[in-house]
Amino acid sequence: MRIGVFDSGIGGRSVANAVEAALPDADVLFRHDTAEHFPYATKSPDEIYEFVLPIFDELVAAGCEAIVIACNTVSTTLVGRLREVFGIPLVALEPMVKPAAELSTSGVVAICATPTTLASARYAWLKETYGNGCAFLEPDCSDWSYLIEHNRMNEERIREGIEPALAAGADVIVLGCTHYHWIEEEIDQIAAGRARVLQPESAVVAQLKRVLQLS
Ligand code: DGL
Repeated sequence: MRIGVFDSGIGGRSVANAVEAALPDADVLFRHDTAEHFPYATKSPDEIYEFVLPIFDELVAAGCEAIVIACNTVSTTLVGRLREVFGIPLVALEPMVKPAAELSTSGVVAICATPTTLASARYAWLKETYGNGCAFLEPDCSDWSYLIEHNRMNEERIREGIEPALAAGADVIVLGCTHYHWIEEEIDQIAAGRARVLQPESAVVAQLKRVLQLS
């Protein structure tokens, strides 16, 4: 069985690793955007749509039975349009607003995501529907995916994003961009027990198994 995993860059590699670990017999094809469109962080959904179409075409032509959209920016803005075009299951991931709101006892949650994700109607809907009265802080992470992709992220920049949210009482930090999975440990260390850090890899794997009727 062949499964496609897509992202703009190296964020999706961490999701592909999780899929490979959970489904060792599957042939996982990881594709990222190699055409110098990265980062998607601040680009418009219409622009991003044109970038991703040929890559999804390629994954379908390669025989993928499902594609994991390991990019919150694409999932939150384009999954509906992509599902109309492609006839195989597309597994989307999006900021974990619902689990975060359920987990928070302070009622303050930090959502780290790209500007395009934070501006999406889907994200607004998630907060409206599952927000449970929480305050959602959205630290400025607009350059994080770029810095991580180019191995230029550092502790100071992470602290700049996270510390004000912790000081404001955030007890859950959501990683709403797959690039940030690569700095999960650093964020966890900075949080130092003050906040739980959530990212969606295990939920995505569970959803993929459901879609493929493996569980
Ligand atoms: N990794 C992507 C996400 O999950 C976005 C990275 C980017 O292209 O800025 O949103």
